[in-house]
Formats: sequence, structure tokens, C-alpha cells
Amino acid sequence: MKDQTIAIHAGFKSDSATKAVSVPIYQTVAYEFDSAQHGADLFNLEVEGNIYTRIMNPTTAVLEERCAALEEGIAGLGLSAGSAAVNYSILNIAEQGSNIVTVPLLYGGTYTLFRHMLPRQGIEVRFAEDDSAEAMAKHIDDKTAAVFCESIGNPAGNIVDIEALADMAHAHDVPLIVDNTVATPALIKPINWGADIVVNSLTKYMGGHGNSLGGVIVDAGEFPWAKHPKKFHMLNEPEESYHGVVYTEALGAAAYIGRVRTVALRNTGSAISPMNAFLILQGMQTLPLRMERHCDNAVAVANYLNDHPHVEWVKFAGLPDSPYYDLAQKYTGGKPSALMTFGIKGGFDAGVKFYDALNMFLRLVNIGDTKSLAAHPASTTHRQLSESELESAGVTPDMIRLCIGIEHIDDIIADLDQALTASQTG
Ligand SMILES: Cc1ncc(COP(=O)(O)O)c(C=O)c1O
Repeated sequence: MKDQTIAIHAGFKSDSATKAVSVPIYQTVAYEFDSAQHGADLFNLEVEGNIYTRIMNPTTAVLEERCAALEEGIAGLGLSAGSAAVNYSILNIAEQGSNIVTVPLLYGGTYTLFRHMLPRQGIEVRFAEDDSAEAMAKHIDDKTAAVFCESIGNPAGNIVDIEALADMAHAHDVPLIVDNTVATPALIKPINWGADIVVNSLTKYMGGHGNSLGGVIVDAGEFPWAKHPKKFHMLNEPEESYHGVVYTEALGAAAYIGRVRTVALRNTGSAISPMNAFLILQGMQTLPLRMERHCDNAVAVANYLNDHPHVEWVKFAGLPDSPYYDLAQKYTGGKPSALMTFGIKGGFDAGVKFYDALNMFLRLVNIGDTKSLAAHPASTTHRQLSESELESAGVTPDMIRLCIGIEHIDDIIADLDQALTASQTG
């Protein structure tokens, strides 16, 4: 099936109990056991069924199956937020003494997790100098548990050569984890380029309407965990916290996703609410359609800004002068999502004037909404940073980040046009 069909049908036809054709919201915490034996069989992973919503839920199960189908993986795990998905994707295979190797350009929350939080748990995070396979390879050693990247970086909009990173990681017997939030599987399917694990913030384009937090981890089911019993001993030795199960023996190709559910999620609880799973499923039905419009509008806006006399520079991988243009062609057919940054003539002050003059664009810190969104990092999110800190964070005083929505392109351009004029008035 094609994405447009998968986004509507995968994982659900009608409810087995009521024949309802809309995915029911199973707003329950627990599920009854038929007998003591049935309960034991469920806990032993010997029969399929539900135990407790922190671990699984039938509404969330549809979301997981649909995400896995779109990403072309074998199984998914729904979570409370994209941040939880990133965290668990690492914790499932890394521990004190392990390291992971990451690209340097990352979403801010992931950067903080990697720079400050994982190291305090004894997991070293090695930031490569750039996102090339050569730069990443230099940091890998026998304690490396994973290589991490974002398919399209937030906020830089850089495109990573997933195929090259996957080949390099596999040559070192290490899995590649890709955060696919900005691209979504409608634009890039990292698994088809060799990724082993894909994480997504469903809060963004996947849900698409800015109303619900959610995250997902999808397992390609391809990485040979059993071939590396020492490095990935968590998947290959009896799991003490789960009555001695050996995941690679009990679940085969689904060992990784099985363990992340029954160890990380079960014991630390970043579960998605059934209501949020429902709302995200509702939004996901139009994902391929929305992404088409997001991308078309973004290309039109990038070209408009590029030609505008009040604009100093535009960074968008869909423009021919972008260093990521060729990768954008390879991975997205020249439609690299709808996130871009530009520099306004007149620096910080003009940036503030532009920002305040916006009428339709929303001033906030989010991406992937149907609505067009704008951020001026230097006067808001990054306001407390010094000039040199701003520079190392890749934020300039004149920089505006736009995330283009699916409104009519004429209205989007009209709002930008009047705000650009206002930015230059005394
Ligand atoms: C690339 C990327 N990954 C992960 C996240 C975290 O997602 P959430 O806000 O759902 O926790 C974000 C949030 O902006 C993001 O942009």
C-alpha cells in the first residue's frame, strides 16, 4: 500500500467488540485476566493481550502499528513525547561505560539530554565535528552502542546522508538511530536507507495540528543484536528485571522494541494517553496530503525571501545555493519539509520589529502545525545567551525561524510582506 492509504487504514478496520469504524479511545488503566494462568501467560509474553496501560493500550496499539507501517519497520512503541522516544531509544542499549556518537546539529532538547543528562548516567556522548560518515567514524570504539542523527536537523534544516551513516555504523557493528521528526515518513523513510531504529516526535507534523504531545520508536528489525552478545548483553542475557527473559531468544527480530516496552516504558512510565493517541491518529490520516502542501508552500516562501531586498540570507535545503541541496534532492526529491531560517536586514532590532508585526504567523516555539509559525530565537528562547554562546548555538541576532503551514500561499506571503516592510520603519 502507498502512504496515503497506510495513513488512513493501517492497524485498524473496525472495532472487534462494537464494529465502530473510528478507532475507539480505550480510556482504561487495566484489563481483566480470565484466570491466574491467563495473567501469568500475559506476563510471560506467551499470549497476546493487554495488562496495564502504562505498558500497552489498544488505541495506542493502532498508532504504533500505523507508525511502524509508514516507517516500514516491524513494530513501534508509542510514548508520551518525542523526547521520551529519544531518551528510551538510547537507554535501551546503552549503560554506564557505553558511549554513543552523534551529529553535532540537534534539536535543543536532545542536545541538552546528550550534553548534560546522559553523561550523568555514565553514558558518554561524543559529538562529531560534522555530520559526515568520516567525522562520525573517528569517534567509534568497542564501547559505542549507537550512532545518532536527525534526518533533517531542527532548527538548522541540514540534511544528513543517512545511507552513508548507516553503512559506516554497520561497518563498525553499531546500529543507526534516526530522529525523523522534521521529515516524517511521508518525506524520508530512514529504514529504507539503512537505519535500524527511527524515533519521531508525533507532536509535530505526524499529529500535525498542535494539540497533543506524543512520540514513537520504530524498530526496523534488521540489526543483528544476537551477533554481538557482549556489546548488547541487555538483549542477549537473561533480563533480571523481567523474570529472566532473553529478548533475542523470546522475540527474535523484535528484541529491541520488546525490551524498550517491558523495561524502559514499564518501569519508568512515559506512556502516551489513549486520548492523545486518538488525536494523533486523527491527524495522521492526512499526513501525506499535509506534507505536500507544507513543502510546496515552503519552497514558494524560500524563493520569495531569497529575492526580497530586506532579507540578507535564507537557509533552506530546497534552494540551489544550499550546501544540502544535493542531499535534499536525494532524500526528499527537493522538498525538504517546511522549516527554514533567514536573516533580516537591520539585525536584532529589525528582527524584533518583524516578529512583532506578524499578524497571521504565530509567535511560538513549535514546529509542524497546520498553522504558520515563527520564532526569533535571539529575543526569546536564546535571549540569556552571550554573543559568543549565540554563535556556537548557530543563532544570529537577525535570525528568524519559520515553519510554514498549510494556509493559502497568498496569505502566508502577504503576512511576511507586511512584516518585512514594518521591520525597516523607524
Ligand atoms: C527533532 C525533534 N526531536 C524531538 C523533539 C521532542 O519532541 P516532543 O516535544 O514531542 O518531546 C523535537 C521537538 O521539537 C524535535 O524537533
